[in-house]
Amino acid sequence: MTSRAICSTALLFFALTGTAVAQQAPAPAAPAAAAPAMAPASPVVLANSCASCHGVDGKGFAGTKVPAINGRPAQELSTIMKSFKADQVTVTIMNRLAKGYTDAEIDSLAGYFAAIR
Ligand code: HEC
Repeated sequence: MTSRAICSTALLFFALTGTAVAQQAPAPAAPAAAAPAMAPASPVVLANSCASCHGVDGKGFAGTKVPAINGRPAQELSTIMKSFKADQVTVTIMNRLAKGYTDAEIDSLAGYFAAIR
């Protein structure tokens, strides 16, 4: 067998086995179904996301510059949050965080913290 014939045979072998492997490959997994819409979270659950910085009661932590958000009118808190969300006011972190909440969730959070004295 000439080296050219060996080469051709090898190419034919790889071409055939390559095809065979491709035919035996498992069918790709079906695309995952779209994630179901999240159920509306209770204000307490939503407020847990704020606790690391503002405290569980929204009163903040001594020695930090994170403002207290408890006991203020709900409308005021809601308006501030929405202005962060819309980048009407530019701050350090709240612009990014506020974008994670619907307006209804922001209203819910505002009501929750407003009620804590
Ligand atoms: C990673 C820390 C962090 C988390 C988490 C956080 N905040 Fe803030 N928040 C801040 C900081 C810092 C400020 C001051 C503005 C700024 O620099 O972003 C602020 C400001 C605010 C203000 C404005 C208060 C004022 O007097 O102007 C409101 C209202 C507020 N946050 C609500 C929330 C709510 C509601 C959540 C939970 C959904 C939350 N924050 C989560 C750090 C945080």
